[in-house]
Amino acid sequence: MKTVIHIVGTRPNFVKAAPIIAEMERVGNIKNLVVHTGQHYDDKMSGIFFSELGISKPHYNLDIGGGSHAVQTAGIMIGCEQIFIECDPNLIVVYGDVNSCLAAALVASKMGIPIAHIESGLRSYDRTMPEEINRVITDSISTVLFLTSFDAMANLNREGVDIDCCYVVGNTMIDSLVRLSEEFDKSKILNTLSLEKKAYALATFHRPSNVDTAGGLEKIIDIFSEISKLNKKLKIVFPVHPRTLNNIKKFNLFDRMNQIDNLLIEKPLGYLDFISSMRDSLFVLTDSGGIQEETTFLNVPCLTYRENTERPVTVELGTNILVSSIADIKENIKSIMNGTYKRAKAIEYWDGKAATRVAKILNEVLS
Ligand code: UD1
Repeated sequence: MKTVIHIVGTRPNFVKAAPIIAEMERVGNIKNLVVHTGQHYDDKMSGIFFSELGISKPHYNLDIGGGSHAVQTAGIMIGCEQIFIECDPNLIVVYGDVNSCLAAALVASKMGIPIAHIESGLRSYDRTMPEEINRVITDSISTVLFLTSFDAMANLNREGVDIDCCYVVGNTMIDSLVRLSEEFDKSKILNTLSLEKKAYALATFHRPSNVDTAGGLEKIIDIFSEISKLNKKLKIVFPVHPRTLNNIKKFNLFDRMNQIDNLLIEKPLGYLDFISSMRDSLFVLTDSGGIQEETTFLNVPCLTYRENTERPVTVELGTNILVSSIADIKENIKSIMNGTYKRAKAIEYWDGKAATRVAKILNEVLS
C-alpha cells in the first residue's frame, strides 16, 4: 500500500484539501495521512473547518503557531522531516501558497520524496508578497503540478517548468463549495447577525500590505466610513482575522473602527457561515486570494483591494475587480447597486470535479 501525506496548515488549505483527501480515500489502495502544521490554530480558524469539511482528525499536529517567517518555516521543516523519516511516504501533497506548503515541499525535495502541488502556476509577479516566493519555489521543486486554470500554464512555461508534469484540473476550493452547497442553506448566520439578503457587504482584510501598518489600517477605516456614508441602510459585516485584530489593537484603532455606523465587527466565521454570508451578500470587499474565486463561482461582485492578483481569470471572466482607491470602490458600488456590474462567465473545470481528476492522476503516478 502506498502512503501519501497531505500537509495543511491554514484555513484555505483545509478547504482545498478536504475534497482531495476524500477522493484519494475513494480511489484506491492508498494510506492517506494528514499533517496539520498548526499555522492556524484557533478553533474558528482551524478546528471548525475540519469538522464542517469532514476532514478526519490530523494524524500529526506540529502546533507551530504564529511567528516570523523564518521561525514558522523552519519549525515546520524540522517537524515534517521527522514525520517523513517515520512514515516514509511515496508522495506528499501540498496546498496553495502558504508557509506550510513551502516548508514541507523543501523538506520532501531534499529527501527525494515526490511532491504534488495543488494550485500551481498562480503568479502576482509581486515579490514583496510572501506568498509569491512560496509559489515560485514550490512550483520549481514539485513533481506533479495541478493548475486551476490555463493561464497558470503560461506562467510555468515561462519559468521553464516541465509542462508534461502540469495538469489543468480545475479548482478544488470550488469542489468544496459544490459538495457542501446544501449545508450553506442551513446556516443561521443571517438571523444571528440580523442581516437581510443582499442588504449588506461582506469585508475581509488580512494581507500584511494592508493591515500591518497604522497607515494601511487607517485607509481601511476610511473605506468603511465612506461606504457607510454612501448608503446608510447597507450594513458591512467584517469578520476580523487574528492578524488584523492584533494590529487594530496594537495601533489603538479599535474605537475609531467601532464608531462607524453599520459596521459589524465580528469574530472569524466558520466555513459554512462564511460562505453562506458571502453568497447572500450584495458584494464582497476583500484582499484575500481564495475569496476572489469563490465569489466568481457564486456570481457575487467582488472588489479586491490590492494592486495585483495572482488570479487574473477571476477578473477576466469572473466578478472580480481590483480597486485601489476610495473613489474606485464607490464607483463600483454604484454600479452594483444600479444593476450594471458585470456578471460571471463559467470557468473551465470549475465544476466540482477537480478533486476527482487530481485523485485519478495521482493514483496513476503512484502505481
Ligand atoms: C496566512 C498565509 C496567507 C493566507 C492566510 C489565510 C503565509 C505566509 N500566509 O496568513 O497566505 O492568505 O494565512 O488566512 O503563509 N493567528 C492567530 N490564530 C490563528 C491563526 C493565526 O492568532 O488561528 C495569528 C498568528 O499568531 C499571527 C497572525 O495571526 O500572529 C498571522 O498568522 P499567519 O499564519 O502567520 O499568517 P496569516 O496572516 O494568517
